[in-house]
Amino acid sequence: MAARRGVPIGALGKVVVLGAGNIGGSLAQRLAESDLAREVVLVDIIDGLPQGKALDIQESAPILGFSTRVSGTTSVDAVAGADVVVETAGLARKPGMSRSDLLEKNAAIVQGHAEAVRAHAPNAICVVVTNPVDVMTYYFRERSGLPTAHVFGESGTLDTARFRTFVAEALHVAPKDVTGFVLGTHGDTMVPLLSLTSVSGVPLTSLLPAERLAALVERTKQGGGEIVNLLKTGSAFYAPTASQAELVRAIANDEHRLLPASAYLDGAFGEKDVYVGVPVVLGRQGVERVVEVELTPAEKGAFRSSVEAVRADLALLAKLPR
Ligand code: 2OP
Repeated sequence: MAARRGVPIGALGKVVVLGAGNIGGSLAQRLAESDLAREVVLVDIIDGLPQGKALDIQESAPILGFSTRVSGTTSVDAVAGADVVVETAGLARKPGMSRSDLLEKNAAIVQGHAEAVRAHAPNAICVVVTNPVDVMTYYFRERSGLPTAHVFGESGTLDTARFRTFVAEALHVAPKDVTGFVLGTHGDTMVPLLSLTSVSGVPLTSLLPAERLAALVERTKQGGGEIVNLLKTGSAFYAPTASQAELVRAIANDEHRLLPASAYLDGAFGEKDVYVGVPVVLGRQGVERVVEVELTPAEKGAFRSSVEAVRADLALLAKLPR
């Protein structure tokens, strides 16, 4: 296996990105440029969109030097033989909408894709991005029939990246030196954990006063909405796809990364039969384990409310016609 910038080329055979919107296109570009797979396939129902974006990305290969082959198709059967499937398809929020407002329409899209994975890619590791992500991950798992460890959602890595960015700005330190965790649902009740946030090991709570911290937490909770309000026509995609690429890299290189992701809880954190953001270890087999961390009483209460918000959406999902 040849190597470029320390990355084994084609650690994965095939990655399929479902949905060729802003997220799907940007993710395919990031994946191709990091040579994580021999092949990246973009899939979308709008004829021309996946093919056009794929060709455009492919034509950057001579300049950027990547070897990944990028193609596009309208056929969801392209998931056949995928090592990794990333579900990005679905509507994005517009100003004034919550992620839950997307539930019904996006569930219909996710259902068809999950069933295609069940039929053609039963060994894939699936990363779900479509909102409301914790609920769509649950649904994707259910309709695909895959093991829970093989299906997880992107949420915490993105929310944590936003939190780390705001902390870095406030302290004038390098963003990469800020580490932390945002747990709970990818929505207004997410739980940034101040007790687990540090700058190169220095506890955040010793670096900023409580009211500044509270403002950073609030901005993080509204982080997706802040971008939606600025863009007016859709939602964020640069930071989301950076986070998704990080998750795919963890799988491709079997990195055993300890990251926040929407994972299936079967008793961990006192919760059962729900997908929600928690710390997990990620590798080639997907979620290797959920890592239970000690929460303060306030964080515990906030986490419970966050899980209740997911359960409320799961109840709506259960009422939809299948
Ligand atoms: C966000 O938070 C799209 O939900 C995504 O930006």
